[in-house]
Amino acid sequence: MNIKSDKYAALLSQIPNLIDKNISLVSNLASVSAVLKDCFDFFWVGFYIVDGDRLVIGPYQGPLACVEIFFGKGVCGACWEKGEAILVPDVHSFEGHISCNSDSKSEIVVPVFGKDDKVAIVLDIDSAQLDAFDDCDMRNLKKLGKIIETVL
Ligand code: SME
Repeated sequence: MNIKSDKYAALLSQIPNLIDKNISLVSNLASVSAVLKDCFDFFWVGFYIVDGDRLVIGPYQGPLACVEIFFGKGVCGACWEKGEAILVPDVHSFEGHISCNSDSKSEIVVPVFGKDDKVAIVLDIDSAQLDAFDDCDMRNLKKLGKIIETVL
């Protein structure tokens, strides 16, 4: 029995019932970040939303975070630029990492694509532990991203 995998399975079956294309993006992302926080008690979990040449903070759970991140900057900006998820076992080993909180030790980011097949949102999760994320997180958070895409 894999507790984390089972938690993700339950969460992914729940999310489609919590989000709706007939309500605002912010409301949908607020629900998703709240459920992720409640389920896994991540140190920081939230969304950055593409706005022109930068990412701007969207709904999140956790300590105060930086409001804007420019294309290619930090882990989130790299995710936006590459259009790929990034798993960072040690944030201090990631060149250009943007530290919103000194307690953040590892991070995982996942792109969410709009109907134009461009990155529209970056899901960002931080842990206060080193190397806190693994392939199970990567696989399931990518599935979550695909579910969010259905309401964009
Ligand atoms: N660490 C991120 C910045 C956002 S805070 O983690 C919430 C980055 O390097 O892009």
